[in-house]
Amino acid sequence: MIIRQATTSDATAYKSLRERLDSETDTWGADPGERFRTDEDVKAVIKESALQKNSFLWLVADADKLIGFLHAKGLKWRRTNHTIGLDIGILKTHWGRGIADELFFQLEKWAVDNNILRIEFFVYEGNERARSFYKKWGYCEEGVRIGSIYVKGVLSNEIWMSKLLGS
Ligand SMILES: CC(C)(COP(=O)(O)OP(=O)(O)OC[C@H]1O[C@@H](n2cnc3c(N)ncnc32)[C@H](O)[C@@H]1OP(=O)(O)O)[C@@H](O)C(=O)NCCC(=O)NCCS
Repeated sequence: MIIRQATTSDATAYKSLRERLDSETDTWGADPGERFRTDEDVKAVIKESALQKNSFLWLVADADKLIGFLHAKGLKWRRTNHTIGLDIGILKTHWGRGIADELFFQLEKWAVDNNILRIEFFVYEGNERARSFYKKWGYCEEGVRIGSIYVKGVLSNEIWMSKLLGS
């Protein structure tokens, strides 16, 4: 298993990974096929992640097959560029093997080295597995985004989570 930075040559494989993740659980914001229309859309995301000092897109590969990712996207302006937003996904076949743990370990090391002070994201309130993972890592639940997502056709809530590093 290796964790590495995405390059534009990963575009097709990364697009397929995200489509598979979107179809495995319905707790994402996008339906399968809705996230990226073309490989060019994906390449734009990969290029932007590589260019911004406070962003990255890491891929997890198992024997050359992509099985997970962690995307950090930094905010833009001087007053807020100490904050990054996050997105993480591991294929179900690889859950429970400590891969997300390893990604968060690397993430927080990278954050300290890159003057990131705040990490934030939101999670579907019924996603107990992810919520318990984030809580284990010391992320706190800041508030509720009421009715922000349809899950199985039902208007549902998401939880806004964050962690201040070094606090
Ligand atoms: C949430 C997710 C990233 C966890 O990845 P993972 O690689 O399976 O997690 P790990 O094996 O590293 O487990 C880490 C922690 O997750 C939590 N966890 C794992 N399995 C769990 C379960 N069945 N129930 C509750 N918590 C669980 C635990 O806190 C665990 O730590 P522990 O082993 O010390 O108890 C993964 O399940 C996933 O990709 N889910 C679908 C996409 C998703 O929901 N992304 C988050 C969107 S906000």
